[in-house]
Amino acid sequence: MTTWLSSAAVVLAVLAALSLVIFTVLTGVPTLSSRRDEIDEVIALLKRANLPGRAVIVDLGSGWGALVVALARAFPEASVEGIEISLLAHLISRLRTYGLPNVSLRWGNFYRCDFRRADAIVCYLITSVMPAVSDLLDRSLRPGAVVVSNTFLFRERAIASLRRAGRRGVAALYVWPARHWVVDDEE
Ligand SMILES: C[S@@+](CC[C@H](N)C(=O)[O-])C[C@H]1O[C@@H](n2cnc3c(N)ncnc32)[C@H](O)[C@@H]1O
Repeated sequence: MTTWLSSAAVVLAVLAALSLVIFTVLTGVPTLSSRRDEIDEVIALLKRANLPGRAVIVDLGSGWGALVVALARAFPEASVEGIEISLLAHLISRLRTYGLPNVSLRWGNFYRCDFRRADAIVCYLITSVMPAVSDLLDRSLRPGAVVVSNTFLFRERAIASLRRAGRRGVAALYVWPARHWVVDDEE
């Protein structure tokens, strides 16, 4: 019985590790958590954005849940939602957020989601996916909603506010669609 249980535990651990690797390869985004100093800057930017009291804040790729937990505590009146594609990370984040009444987590692909209800989007992804995420937000985010990105910036979008986190980190606030004003000089 003990041998059977330990074999099952090993198989589960291998499957869990494999699933992490597979999702990292498929999405190109590693399952790393935001650091504490980065989380503090993300929260400071969201506070500066004057969100409505009962704001809906969505973490695109909520990973192990570090950012959603901190957001739920910093904005107790808000609804904090997380979407995560990796099953293992999603399950762990469910355990971490157990008992936090203002968090809801979904297992799935954020490219298949609609963000019309969101007042704010937060993300910590990677450079290569930022153009696709920009397009996604253009399609499905209400103009005027705010977006805060940890470390990876959106190209050709106007940053409303920028904060440094530690020596390497940076967090940027955008008021979507945050397009630079283009002057059409052909008129
Ligand atoms: C760097 S982690 C950030 C985790 C968390 N937001 C934080 O700041 O602590 C990025 C997460 O995004 C997830 N991810 C990447 N592409 C995704 C997609 N298309 N749909 C849902 N989750 C995705 C990855 O699996 C990974 O866990």
